[in-house]
Amino acid sequence: MTILITGGAGFIGSHVIRLFVETYPNYHIVNLDALTYAGNLENLKDIEDRPNYTFVKGDITNEVFINDLFEKYKFDGVIHLAAESHVDRSIKDPLAFVKTNVIGTMILLNAFKNTWKDNFSNKLFYHISTDEVYGTLGRTGLFTEMTSYDPNSPYSASKASSDHFVRAYGETYGMPYAITNCSNNYGQNQFPEKLIPLFINNIINHKPLPVYGDGNYTRDWLYVKDHAVAIDLVFHKGKNKETYNIGGFNEWKNIDLVKLLCQQMDEKLNREKGSSERLITYVKDRPGHDLRYAIDASKINQELGWKPSVTFEEGLNKTIDWYLNNEEWLHSVISGDYKTYYEKQYNN
Ligand code: NAD
Ligand code: TYD
Repeated sequence: MTILITGGAGFIGSHVIRLFVETYPNYHIVNLDALTYAGNLENLKDIEDRPNYTFVKGDITNEVFINDLFEKYKFDGVIHLAAESHVDRSIKDPLAFVKTNVIGTMILLNAFKNTWKDNFSNKLFYHISTDEVYGTLGRTGLFTEMTSYDPNSPYSASKASSDHFVRAYGETYGMPYAITNCSNNYGQNQFPEKLIPLFINNIINHKPLPVYGDGNYTRDWLYVKDHAVAIDLVFHKGKNKETYNIGGFNEWKNIDLVKLLCQQMDEKLNREKGSSERLITYVKDRPGHDLRYAIDASKINQELGWKPSVTFEEGLNKTIDWYLNNEEWLHSVISGDYKTYYEKQYNN
């Protein structure tokens, strides 16, 4: 079986690649990634020579290139993670999100359809999506698979659109598909534009911690390796044309999470208690900021037996340790373009 995993040099993708390459020696895993600012082959250094693994550098929006790639490998399955993934960037440059997330997904769908035409037996197109497509919750309630799509950011609108196209290809052309909508991931190898690694990096460097608005926004956090396990389960055991919500049963208000992070960092860095908390700075809110995300993951739990394996405290602890022990990784990703991004996002 030959499987295409797109976005495999990114945060979640690199964990999925590692899990598949190590667990399934009989599969040929092809990692297709454009190596944008968010892609980093250092994430996969230790497995790059495995015989069942091939890396291909390329852009999913390049139709000719993608068609040639499908012609060459005849992928039995696609696990599609490549995307522009950061909400703040989508506010500044929405079109980039339409290009990769919508048009790139369409180009992959067409290539998969044209490869298998009317015979899709034992084939699967699996789209990795987000709970942000559901929009925002109030103070109570949970997103289920039946919740209507109601995206608020250009990022979530682009992911909602690509989800709809995947579904449409299933209905119209009989293409077997799965979609999972997952909550906020955290863990090692996450680019320090997202809340947790950005704040870890700033604490290390004694820089202000920019909390948007009043900090009373809520997210449901999941350890990235638990997401990768869920993806493996859905790929192998999920029902055709189904969507599954994946979440951590782990809601945190941003400000409470940041305070926990500060406490753990003070201990690990042997700093005076309370010193990291003093770096908290309330800044201008994100436009269209969704108040609360929280996932009801009972479907994947009951049908596929999945549940998170670590508590948030354990996962956060491991995550902080990883960043403290991988300073070189952190330094390499915060040089160059990151500085320009940071200036524009936080110093204007
Ligand atoms: P990421 O930004 O860390 O990685 C994205 C990867 O895609 C990078 O390696 C990048 O080089 C690659 N890429 C971007 N544009 C490309 C293009 N045009 N062609 C080929 N490759 C391209 O993202 P992530 O956080 O790992 O998210 C992966 C997927 O999971 C995304 O589809 C995202 O929407 C979804 N998701 C993320 C989260 C989260 O909390 N991070 C939660 C739920 C769902
Ligand atoms: P983020 O990690 O960007 O994920 P998402 O927007 O996809 O949920 O942000 C998580 C939460 O943290 C969100 O409510 C926005 C907030 N946040 C800040 O308060 N400050 C920051 O600098 C960042 C990046 C996020």
